[in-house]
Amino acid sequence: MAFFSKKQTKKAEEVDFSNLPRHIAIILDGNGRWAQQRNLPRTAGHAAGAETFRKIATYCRDIGLEYLTVYAFSTENWKRPKNEVDTIMSLLEKYLYEAIDRMERDKVKMCFFGDTTVLSPELQELIARTREISLHYEGCQVNICLNYGGRDEILRAVAQYAQEYKAGTAPELTEESFSRYLYSAGVPDPDLLIRPGGELRLSNFLMWQSAYSELYFTDTLWPDFTEADINRAIAAYQHRDRRFGGIKP
Ligand code: IPE
Ligand code: IPE
Ligand code: MG
Repeated sequence: MAFFSKKQTKKAEEVDFSNLPRHIAIILDGNGRWAQQRNLPRTAGHAAGAETFRKIATYCRDIGLEYLTVYAFSTENWKRPKNEVDTIMSLLEKYLYEAIDRMERDKVKMCFFGDTTVLSPELQELIARTREISLHYEGCQVNICLNYGGRDEILRAVAQYAQEYKAGTAPELTEESFSRYLYSAGVPDPDLLIRPGGELRLSNFLMWQSAYSELYFTDTLWPDFTEADINRAIAAYQHRDRRFGGIKP
């Protein structure tokens, strides 16, 4: 698949599309600063960020990525002003309404990581419908992390395991069996974790799953993120030497 003609291609963006990571995770960060730079309310940044998400998710599907996981709202983001939280939630509703309409055409499978039971009934209903429709699709799987925290995810997994242990139904505790208690059960760990927005931290994202992810940080704010940025991240990933604690043969 030629996404750039030879002339347009810049070296830093040169991707080997036959050797993509299976799973890319992205922290969607920088919406607020993008808006502030334009003298707009932070909420305008979230609206722009939602558009960027549409564009990048479509691109990832088109290049044949198997899994895309995005951090959309953390367990800590409830600390923000009510107006900002409400706007993010209504943008999510709008996004899901539209996504449901387009799912047949888009052939994207959507899943949700995080405790969605505290979200509005409308949002929960949309999530349930999206999940149901997704059961029919086999294509690119997009995981949206909503009210998600890596520590919260691990605590919940431990609590569930302990309950089963007490009932005598728990499996032997191994990394493999434990990972089946996480929201990401059945999904391979992210190979590449991207954080736009300039911050050099994980902010409680995929704490268990990112143990051996390749990290890629960029100052580009999420609403400005383009297909060329994701190509640059993938190209950088393709030059990394993944050893998983071993040594090069
Ligand atoms: C990310 O953008 C979106 C959410 C956390 C919901 P921010 O809102 O964190 O944007 P900055 O980091 O303040 O620019
Ligand atoms: C991380 O971004 C959470 C999401 C993008 C959903 P934050 O903006 O909340 O992270 P901090 O506060 O900079 O660590
Ligand atoms: Mg932020």
